[in-house]
Amino acid sequence: MTRVFSGVKPTGHLTLGNYLGAMRQWAAVDQHRADALFCIVDLHALTVDHDPARVRRLSRQAATLLLAVGLDPALCTVFVQSHVDEHARLSYVLECVATDGEMRRTIQYKEKAARERERGGSVRLSLLTYPVLMAADILVYGADEVPVGDDQAQHVELTRDLAVRFNQRYGHTFVVPRATFPAVAARVMNLQEPTSKMGKSDDSGPGIVYLLDEPDVVRKKIMRAVTDSGREIVYDREERPGVANLLEILAACTGGNPEALSGAYESYGSLKQDTAEAVVELLRPVQERHRALCADPGYVEGVLRDGAERARVLARPTVDAAYRAIGLLPAV
Ligand code: TYM
Repeated sequence: MTRVFSGVKPTGHLTLGNYLGAMRQWAAVDQHRADALFCIVDLHALTVDHDPARVRRLSRQAATLLLAVGLDPALCTVFVQSHVDEHARLSYVLECVATDGEMRRTIQYKEKAARERERGGSVRLSLLTYPVLMAADILVYGADEVPVGDDQAQHVELTRDLAVRFNQRYGHTFVVPRATFPAVAARVMNLQEPTSKMGKSDDSGPGIVYLLDEPDVVRKKIMRAVTDSGREIVYDREERPGVANLLEILAACTGGNPEALSGAYESYGSLKQDTAEAVVELLRPVQERHRALCADPGYVEGVLRDGAERARVLARPTVDAAYRAIGLLPAV
């Protein structure tokens, strides 16, 4: 059976981008067709300046939201990264096949390191090695597929490189995974800056739709979305990123096609109105389930406990094999 692994990082409230780019596929498709593991990758949240209490709160919230979007613990494994030591253990081994040059070349490192420096802060070493830990997350479970949004493509490519390099040097140990992307909305853009990704850790609140935004807040944000100059509604990501983003969001919500939808609208107002209502309807059941789950924190905790237990069982043999292959003396 195909093994699938993916994760979310608890660095902010989850967004419409997270949902359309990744979580929706996990719930609607992946958990039904594969042996799927979904992880709240809390260790990754420590790579930039962080508040411990906030990371804890966001980790709990992310777990609750993963269940609220429809992940079913009877079908898949939901757990927290730091509950399974094997991620960090394998990460160290992979640091011994990765190079500092390939880490420095990653887009996210360059962008985030620049942002930290602009704020006058220092860059944590873990930010540089972030992609290695991410590779460990994936390789430790022998995942075949990694369903992600567009922005993670380079990291999954690096994971493949590390797996191939390790296998060539030390003997076949890792499955070489591949990334999968949703057909539409693989990169949802910020409503106020449609040339930048809608990112949960960004400061631009009005441009980001959060999964737990009240319906009226969602409506307001979408109605105020920046559109482009030019009156015609055409789907062109390069020249008309604002309109293209709305068309993609609407298409993703309604199961349509952005190109075809562009022909159905004559004004920005009606496109925005329909997009806003489609998003409100999409989020309604998620928010309802989220409310119900918040009333039962014991249930969520139990899911995470069982999930970590299962994940450990799957992860341990891979780490043992990697330790042996790279030359570490087995413990007796
Ligand atoms: P994170 O937490 O930033 O995002 C979680 C998932 O949501 C997708 N996503 C988007 N998709 C479309 N449009 C957007 N605006 C948008 N924003 C986010 C992301 O592509 C991702 O699939 N490094 C990862 C977490 C991670 C991981 C892993 C993922 C750590 N280890 C192993 C997969 C496998 C991250 O920061 O995702």
